[in-house]
Order: sequence, then structure tokens, then C-alpha cells
Amino acid sequence: MHAKRYDRLTVLLHWLMAALILAQIGLGLWMVDLPKDDSGQRAGWFNVHKSVGMVLLLLIALRIAWLPWRPRVAPATRGWQHRAAGAGHALLYLLMLIVPLSGFLGSVFSRYPIRFMGIRLPRLAAPWDAAKEVLSVVHLVSVYTLMAMVILHLLAFAYHQFVLKDRLLMRMR
Ligand code: HEM
Ligand code: HEM
Repeated sequence: MHAKRYDRLTVLLHWLMAALILAQIGLGLWMVDLPKDDSGQRAGWFNVHKSVGMVLLLLIALRIAWLPWRPRVAPATRGWQHRAAGAGHALLYLLMLIVPLSGFLGSVFSRYPIRFMGIRLPRLAAPWDAAKEVLSVVHLVSVYTLMAMVILHLLAFAYHQFVLKDRLLMRMR
């Protein structure tokens, strides 16, 4: 039996993470242009970004762990559209994992300490510039791919809302 709508936990995680991810993208793009002066402003905002990002890393772990257990919803479309939706959602999941993971690992190998909500985390590895550089590129490329996928996701939503008029949004509430 397929459910008509997503379960409570999926809905909660979907909207909480959507809001945090959009805020995180805005903050990330803005903070990288802050001056490297001694006001501490740049480091302060970087640590806000790292803290929110680490919360997102925990939330996506929970979301992935919940996948095999949650009730299945009925397909909203058939054929290639159904397959495209499945592939798109899988890619969104993958990116929601790679983006914070690359940010976190990059920070682990950087020369700066990670603060989580003000608390300095113990050093997990010695600074390693080459790894940090690669992970920065992974973070940047994956976050741009995520942005593109979110735009595609919103276009799919608009197609359901205004063309199919099937009230798909009601499944995610
Ligand atoms: C879903 C979560 C996350 C999103 C959407 C996100 C998004 C972004 C964006 C848009 C940028 C700017 C990219 C640029 O212009 O260079 C950025 C940079 C950065 N992010 Fe994240 N981020 C996330 C998680 C994290 C986490 C968990 C950490 C570390 C614990 C982190 C650390 C950094 C750092 C250090 C930068 C500066 C550029 C670099 O050194 O790579 N991010 N992030
Ligand atoms: C960063 C932003 C977002 C991400 C990463 C995201 C991700 C996802 C994912 C992965 C799913 C599949 C359901 C699941 O397994 O959890 C989904 C479903 C859905 N999303 Fe989003 N979403 C975002 C923002 C939005 C926004 C802003 C809207 C509405 C305007 C929206 C509307 C929907 C709807 C209606 C569904 C249900 C589709 C169905 O019935 O199969 N999402 N989203």
C-alpha cells in the first residue's frame, strides 16, 4: 500500500533542510568576499557557516537512515517523468551529503580550528594543504551542482502546480 503523502519526519526534514541550505548558500557566497583583516568578522561568519553546515550533515545522515524505513508514497507521474523524478531526488540526496561532507573534511585539513556553536573542536588531522585545496574545489563544484538541481526541482514543482494542477505540494506538508 502506498501512502498519499509523505510522513511527518520526511516533511519536517524537507522544509527545515531547504531553509537551512538556502541560507547556507547565501552565507557561503557572501562570506568568501569578507576582508582578511583583524576584526575577526571573517572568521566569525566562517564559523557560523561551519556550525550550520555540520547541523546539515547530521540532518542528511538522519534523512538517509530514514529512507529504507519510511512509508512509500504513490508515484505522482508515470513513465520517464517518474524515472526522472527518482533520479533527480537521488541526485539531490547525494549532493546534500557531498556538499557538507567536503566542507567539513576540507576544514579538518585546513590550518584553522573548527568551532561548533562557539566550542572549539579537537584537531582531527594535521593541516594538509593539498587535500584542503581539492576538497575546496569539490565543495564549490558540488554546491553549484546542488543550486542547479534545486532550480530544476523548483521548475518541476511549477510544472505540477501550474500545468498539471495536481496539488503535488500537498504531499509534502
Ligand atoms: C549543506 C551545507 C553547505 C552548503 C550549502 C555550503 C555552501 C557553501 C558555499 C555556497 C560556499 C561559497 C563557495 C565559494 O564561493 O567559494 C561555501 C564555502 C565554504 N564552506 Fe560551505 N556549505 C555547506 C557546508 C559546509 C560545512 C559543513 C563546512 C565546514 C565544516 C563548510 C565550510 C566552508 C568553507 C571553509 C568555505 C570557504 C571556501 C573553502 O575554503 O572551500 N561548508 N560553502
Ligand atoms: C534546498 C532546497 C530543496 C531541496 C534540497 C529539496 C529536496 C527534495 C527531495 C530530495 C525530495 C524528495 C522527497 C524525499 O525523499 O525527501 C523533495 C520533494 C519535494 N519537494 Fe523539495 N527540496 C527543496 C526545496 C523545495 C521547495 C522550495 C519546494 C516548493 C516550492 C519543494 C517542493 C517539493 C515537493 C512538492 C516535493 C514532493 C514531490 C513528490 O510528491 O514526489 N522543495 N524535495
